[in-house]
Amino acid sequence: MFHRLIPTIAIVSFWAIRTAGAEDILLADFEAESYGAWKTSGTAFGSGPARGTLPNQMQVDGYLGKGLVNSYLNGDGSIGTLTSPEFKIERKYIAFLIGGGRSDQLALQLMIDGNVVRSSTGPNDKPGGSESLAPDAWDVAEFVGRKATLRIIDQATGGWGHINVDHIVQTDTKPKGLLKNAERTFDVQSRYLLIPIKNGAAKREVSLLANGQRIVRNDIELADEAPDWWAPMDVSSWKGKSVTLRVDKLREDSSALANIQQSDKLRNEDDLYRESMRGQFHFSPKRGWNNDPNGCVYYNGEYHLFFQHNPYGWGWGNMHWGHAVSRDLVHWEELGDVLLPDDMGPMFSGSAVVDHNNTSGFGMGGKAPLVLIYTAAGNPTVQGIAYSVDGRTFTKYSGNPVLKQITGGNRDPKVIWHEPTKQWVMTLYVEWQGKHTIHFFTSPNLKDWTLASITEGDAPGSNFLFECPDFFELPIDGDPTRKKWVLLAANSDYAIGSFDGKKFSADATRLKGHRGRGFYAAQSFSDAPDGRRIFIGWWQTETKGMPFNQSMSLPLELALTQTNDGPRITFSPAKELQSLRDRSYQVESRSLRPGEKNPLDDIQAELLELRMEFEPGEAQQVVLNIRDVMVEYDAAKQELSVAGHHAAAPLRDGRQRLVIYCDRTGVEVFASDGLCYVPMPYNTKPENKRIFLESRGGAAMIHSLEVHQLKSAWR
Ligand code: FRU
Repeated sequence: MFHRLIPTIAIVSFWAIRTAGAEDILLADFEAESYGAWKTSGTAFGSGPARGTLPNQMQVDGYLGKGLVNSYLNGDGSIGTLTSPEFKIERKYIAFLIGGGRSDQLALQLMIDGNVVRSSTGPNDKPGGSESLAPDAWDVAEFVGRKATLRIIDQATGGWGHINVDHIVQTDTKPKGLLKNAERTFDVQSRYLLIPIKNGAAKREVSLLANGQRIVRNDIELADEAPDWWAPMDVSSWKGKSVTLRVDKLREDSSALANIQQSDKLRNEDDLYRESMRGQFHFSPKRGWNNDPNGCVYYNGEYHLFFQHNPYGWGWGNMHWGHAVSRDLVHWEELGDVLLPDDMGPMFSGSAVVDHNNTSGFGMGGKAPLVLIYTAAGNPTVQGIAYSVDGRTFTKYSGNPVLKQITGGNRDPKVIWHEPTKQWVMTLYVEWQGKHTIHFFTSPNLKDWTLASITEGDAPGSNFLFECPDFFELPIDGDPTRKKWVLLAANSDYAIGSFDGKKFSADATRLKGHRGRGFYAAQSFSDAPDGRRIFIGWWQTETKGMPFNQSMSLPLELALTQTNDGPRITFSPAKELQSLRDRSYQVESRSLRPGEKNPLDDIQAELLELRMEFEPGEAQQVVLNIRDVMVEYDAAKQELSVAGHHAAAPLRDGRQRLVIYCDRTGVEVFASDGLCYVPMPYNTKPENKRIFLESRGGAAMIHSLEVHQLKSAWR
């Protein structure tokens, strides 16, 4: 293997290692409520430091503590200055963290006698980019002893018209140099470049170049020394050719580039899906981070699950669309990322449809195209589409964007075919006029969209109709003559009503969806066979120390059932999950008195499904301890508690029916015939495989009880 390492030796900025020398002097950490003696003008800086990310801003990180200067206040349009009191220069260097836009009009400046003697700006001058603050420093040895002030200016109003600054110190320790645009070129012989990652390290802008062109740019926590894990970058399209990785800034002693290896396999591939904290029947990405499910669709005999994927980080960022397929919703094969960040920005959430009538014209040889509808979250933030006729390779439409920015907070298009009016309908989240709203658009061809109506949710702060809408029709209790439309938000709270092809009219609104924790941005599948409404959510299962993080919920089936309060959603585990049953145990119908021997004493299971139907009878509580996760039913309150988290779970005809799935990453509990769904991330201990059942305060009647030990879904 032949490779080159060409660091450009220009030292552009500095990395302060504060060890030796006189004590550092903190000039500002922006942790207080107000700016103290610093003075503002204009509106960009407000009355005090920001606490992290501001509304509509991409995630800001890389600052220290809780506060920082963030002139995105009131958006990019606001301008102003923030000026420090006078201070004496007493050390050789001034070091700080800086981020935001790159411009002469955005700067942290050092002023002496009214002149700007040093100035630094942020890194971003294009849509996309990163809101990470990075270390920078000035050599000010020549000014030691002089009086100076610091001034932060924001005179820019367009895209990236803001600046972020934090933690300004005077220091005598010579900051370590950073190499600018360090490069390494690879003659591609293998499928992957394995990139060393150190969680929490400074994010570096890493560009992949081929044929002199930038293919993609990612912000990566490169490991300068020993990595925590290795992220595979698929370069198989350039086999036999050369590609270059360019890093914007790199510590001069970093071994990150030199450590990159070519490989056809992942690092530790033999361990893949067997890792100690890997969910065994919940989808999670091989490597990196996932959040929302995207583009859920059934196409050519396969369920397709796309997902918000950071291939190069354990945390959120660099949004790609990952891709996995399954024939049964249980066994998933992860294929590789299909939508990469581009000049319009990172690829945020969206949906997929099968264009059976080829309205888009993307079909080929009589094959109906699969069309993805996504958000490109740059500046502006717009909606785009991509298509495929084989469900494997995807092409972004050359006429993108198909929908321009409405406000910066517009995202997550969910598209459906509306048969009565023979058109496409898009529900799009738009933060608009100080409210969460869903904008309804219609289109004949997925390319041209017309605004049809707007449904308002709540003001930001409350979450109704915030992000990731879903919209579908369901029969009540399976009766096709009694159908209702459901409009649902990222937290799965929903409204029920009717829809005429343009406008949604709610009969009931702000209804509660799931009742657990860590379940978000769920999406239902288009075109699922048998008219089923299959639903899958982002399950926020944290897996510290693993080369992957987060997962998806079980595949759920949604239905509507009539209750005394009106029709309500029920959640059930998809029946396909039963194929995972390995050994099954059954307990005869019996009464269970307090203090009796645990009826589940003989069972040891790590992965399990438990189904129980009971009448509380005299019992005050019926309690299950599943591998240390407490699932308690309070008969008087008709309330379920899962790991201490409470949820209303009414008896139905005097009985309670529980279905519980337990994986390494948590439990999902279904009660009250699916009216109560409680997902609960939980890191179970591998050594504890016991299950206990007891009744407290009196005897309960157990009508049926079965426990199934489950197989792993990973082959
Ligand atoms: C919800 C969300 C979406 C956005 C995506 C970005 O979790 O914030 O609104 O499209 O994640 O990853």
